[in-house]
Amino acid sequence: MQVAIDGPASAGKSTVAKIIAQKLNFTYIDTGAMYRASTWLAREHKLSYGDEKGILAAIEQENIELKSVAGQQKVFVGTKDISQEIRTPDISAHVSQVSALAGVREKMVKLQRQMAGKMNVVMDGRDIGTTVLPNAAVKIFLIASAHSRAERRMKDFKERGIKVDQSLAEIEHDIAERDYKDSHRKISPLKKAQDAIEIDTTAMTIEQVVNAILFEIKKSQKKL
Ligand code: CDP
Ligand code: CDP
Repeated sequence: MQVAIDGPASAGKSTVAKIIAQKLNFTYIDTGAMYRASTWLAREHKLSYGDEKGILAAIEQENIELKSVAGQQKVFVGTKDISQEIRTPDISAHVSQVSALAGVREKMVKLQRQMAGKMNVVMDGRDIGTTVLPNAAVKIFLIASAHSRAERRMKDFKERGIKVDQSLAEIEHDIAERDYKDSHRKISPLKKAQDAIEIDTTAMTIEQVVNAILFEIKKSQKKL
């Protein structure tokens, strides 16, 4: 069974995807983390963020892996845990440029399909319902107002202990800019799949969103 959750930045995708995966004993796959890790690698190797060849070589050289450590989803490059480092504003500011590179997308989509072929998954990202898993049993498109998404992101930084120098307005501006880039790139832009169910989470609690998605999964399981 494949559950695809797409939507713009900070709509709540990873939070609800993790809870749903846990409840159903499915594997959660955070595809955004893979593009963030590619961006981190570009910076680490002092490459320009548009250097497709260089970034692909770095990815080949240094294995990007999603691992579950003590029940927590972690991102590794080789033996280094970069889970925290990939969430900084600097990585967020450059990830859309790296994720627009055709070769990088091709490589990541291949890895994502391999993972989804082996187990039941809840996968979140931007192009899961449209490109990565077009036959997913359940496709969800989460949205929320840009302002509430910025507030969520600010709260999230504080909870993760990440120091933020940006104001709420700057965070909202950055989120809107990234969404614009993600929606307007040539390959697999952020877009609701035709058969996806759209949920506006602006006024919803996490629990309400989780229940709405579980309801759709149960409906689809009955049809199988
Ligand atoms: O958590 P947040 O919504 O801020 O972003 P993310 O899911 O970690 O994704 C980071 C970036 O990776 C996005 O802004 C996209 O540029 C890219 N991405 C993508 O192109 N395709 C995906 N399936 C997932 C992420
Ligand atoms: O993965 P994505 O970027 O779409 O968003 P996220 O990282 O899961 O969610 C960003 C923040 O919004 C988290 O701190 C969640 O706890 C919060 N959130 C919320 O306040 N209400 C919701 N209905 C969903 C998420």
